[in-house]
Amino acid sequence: MGLTVGVVGATGAVGSKMIEILEERKLTIDKLRLFASQKSVGNTVDFRGEKIEVELLTEDAMKEKFDYLLFSAGGGVSEKYAPIAAEAGNTVVDNSSQWRMTEGIPLVVPEVNPHVLKGYQGIVANPNCSTIQMVVALAPLHKRYGIKRVVVSTYQAVSGSGHKAIVELQNQVQDENYPNKVYTKQIFANCIPHIDVFYDNGYTKEELKMVYETHKILEDDKIQVNATTVRIPVYYGHSESVYLEFNEAPEINEIKEILRNSPGVVLMDNPAENCYPTPREVANTDETYVGRIRKDLYNPNAVSLWVVADNLRKGAATNAIQIIEVMENYKR
Ligand code: A2P
Repeated sequence: MGLTVGVVGATGAVGSKMIEILEERKLTIDKLRLFASQKSVGNTVDFRGEKIEVELLTEDAMKEKFDYLLFSAGGGVSEKYAPIAAEAGNTVVDNSSQWRMTEGIPLVVPEVNPHVLKGYQGIVANPNCSTIQMVVALAPLHKRYGIKRVVVSTYQAVSGSGHKAIVELQNQVQDENYPNKVYTKQIFANCIPHIDVFYDNGYTKEELKMVYETHKILEDDKIQVNATTVRIPVYYGHSESVYLEFNEAPEINEIKEILRNSPGVVLMDNPAENCYPTPREVANTDETYVGRIRKDLYNPNAVSLWVVADNLRKGAATNAIQIIEVMENYKR
């Protein structure tokens, strides 16, 4: 028998990508239900040749029987509705940050820590987009050399802030005076070192997500992570400059070999042929791309790398659907 799946936030940037990916992958789905706010009720979405009407998200709807509910409608919606759905026996894969650090709630990147899903039912958290792509690249290197310290700077696409942010950039490309609504400053022809809210220690919430989610997923809170997260005027695809200090001195060729053979990673590293990943090239793919691998000039235990992935796919929708696939495999 096929699955009954619901998408909450079905009209959003990530929600619509979830529907697209459900259509592409092999999961057998008997029934797909779509939920959003009053504004979208009655709109239809095509899914495998069928027109599906968007329904209003209500508490009663979340108490109905679903095999999986994919949530991507913001933290407030997840805070209120995910526990109601889970209480009713449904498994929720939540893309918001609401439940990620809650003890007992698995935070999962299927290439890295699928084992935490064995026998689990309830709310599962999908990690932050920048964290997902970073840990896909880091996990196999941590296993081999032990990572002591990570210094990461991100170059994040506007689609990570939702549909409204894509529209804001499109409008500012046409008219530089188009007002800043989603961002605090103009995003067109600019870069903004401010993602999510600031904390008293000077870091943003996005930066601290990269610290604590990395610890939880890699099951090692001794890794020293220092993040600077930056929004740039790119529509799709997050890039990251990652500096890694290991407990021992690695060989660059061995790092390349490890990454070449790691699940979900594509090595794209041949400077002589200008071969390194960029957001445009990796858009619409599900892998994490790594290039520009080089040794630190001073510290023999340290390397730099460049990591790029499609933030709406591997950074959100694909990862969430891979979580469902892992859970289904464990049930077999
Ligand atoms: P709607 O389009 O009806 O407002 P994005 O991340 O691209 O901004 O999308 C957010 C998604 O979450 C949209 O599908 C949006 O629906 C949905 N959403 C936001 N707030 C609510 C809410 N209170 N109840 C249900 N869906 C919501």
